[in-house]
Amino acid sequence: MGWCARINDGGMPNATNSPYSTDPKTTPVTVLGLGAMGQALAGALLKSGHPTTIWNRSAGKGDDLVARGATRAASAAAAVRAGEVVLVCVVDYDASQAILEPLAADLSGRVLVNVTSDSPERARAAAEWAAAHEIAYLDGAVMIPTVMVGTPEALLFYSGDEAAYRKHEELLKSLGGQSAYVGADHGLAAVYDLSMLDFFWTSMAGLVHGYALAAKDGVPASSIAPFLQSHFSLLAMLIGETAKDVDRGVYPGEEGNLAMELEGVEHILHAAERRGLDVSVLRGVRDVAKRAVDLGHGADSWTATVEGIRKPGA
Ligand SMILES: NC(=O)c1ccc[n+]([C@@H]2O[C@H](COP(=O)([O-])OP(=O)(O)OC[C@H]3O[C@@H](n4cnc5c(N)ncnc54)[C@H](OP(=O)(O)O)[C@@H]3O)[C@@H](O)[C@H]2O)c1
Repeated sequence: MGWCARINDGGMPNATNSPYSTDPKTTPVTVLGLGAMGQALAGALLKSGHPTTIWNRSAGKGDDLVARGATRAASAAAAVRAGEVVLVCVVDYDASQAILEPLAADLSGRVLVNVTSDSPERARAAAEWAAAHEIAYLDGAVMIPTVMVGTPEALLFYSGDEAAYRKHEELLKSLGGQSAYVGADHGLAAVYDLSMLDFFWTSMAGLVHGYALAAKDGVPASSIAPFLQSHFSLLAMLIGETAKDVDRGVYPGEEGNLAMELEGVEHILHAAERRGLDVSVLRGVRDVAKRAVDLGHGADSWTATVEGIRKPGA
């Protein structure tokens, strides 16, 4: 254990009987869960000057944090009692529930921020539990890898108790400069998370598939990559326009229509099939576009595929 390791016995007064410092930098914070992400979050909090208490289910994690000044708590309950703000970051909500449920009395009067990834439904259920125990609750989603935590570019979403968010905004922004509060419904951080990761993983599926297709004709991925960079800037330009069209339900197709684009997808699909590649992702793309065409959107833009997505049985 490092030179400044301390064991906390939970002796700190709780939020109801102690006037915590109003200096946001000195707000005591607790991090429950020291996986890769929990450690990164605790590291960023330490760096920004917050007295930071840490706890993990299994021993042997967080030595580096202790060496940097974190306090290792002897139990989850002691850890909670040491923080005005309690962050939990574990594998999923089954795990966070297992940790938090026995700690309801200790958490009462504190701000609980759960940045564990899970569904909007689980976030809302956790919020109901927190409200029943008078725990100010924020649900969060971490949208960046561990190496970006604490940087000005890092994005985390928060939803739920707005007063708690505003009070601790500076602390929460020390985890990521782009952090955003997205609404009072506790499920919203997870909704934003799901939507963005839906985009991310389907894009990654296309990226890897495109590389596999080129490789079949002897073209290495690294030869395609520079061109994909400029292609990607096209996609970046389309994000805002597509959003407007989806929200309006209007899909102007004068510059390129879905019937023509569907033909393009069929060509790629057949080329990939001829080369013996898996085409299940492309088939899904083709099927959804074809359904939108069958629903009457052939003259609209690609964005009209949203109608095919919304009517899977059509
Ligand atoms: N890593 C990333 O790049 C990244 C990026 C964005 C979001 N996230 C999200 O951050 C969360 C944590 O990810 P991670 O990368 O830190 O995961 P990880 O390295 O696999 O760590 C998992 C953590 O969950 C704890 N845990 C698992 N089951 C538990 C249980 N039943 N009771 C108590 N604790 C339990 C583990 O404790 P033990 O050490 O005792 O097993 C450990 O602290 C996930 O929801 C993930 O989706 C991660």
